[in-house]
Amino acid sequence: MTDSSAAKSVSVYTVSIRNTSYRFQARADETVLQAALQQGVELPWGCGGGVCGICMSELMSGEVVYDAPPLALFEEDEEQGKGLICVAYPRSDLILHIPEVSNI
Ligand code: FES
Repeated sequence: MTDSSAAKSVSVYTVSIRNTSYRFQARADETVLQAALQQGVELPWGCGGGVCGICMSELMSGEVVYDAPPLALFEEDEEQGKGLICVAYPRSDLILHIPEVSNI
């Protein structure tokens, strides 16, 4: 009998920041911000919990999911393609637009 608890493979996606050379890998089980910081990519953030809105980014392409609806992400934000990367888990390759980073 095999051990069904053996390590499951976790999808890994590529995250690019538009108009920059920033590109990093993000696992499906970590937030986009966690992945960025672990790889030395400094992105704007504050609370880390979906409350302050500082990490608001524009999702140019790709899909993310949240464990629970983030407090600082309103319906109109989502309709405009925005997301909170501190609590967003990638579900595909992503291209983000972050004005504070893209304008450097
Ligand atoms: S860092 Fe505060 S909402 Fe993302």
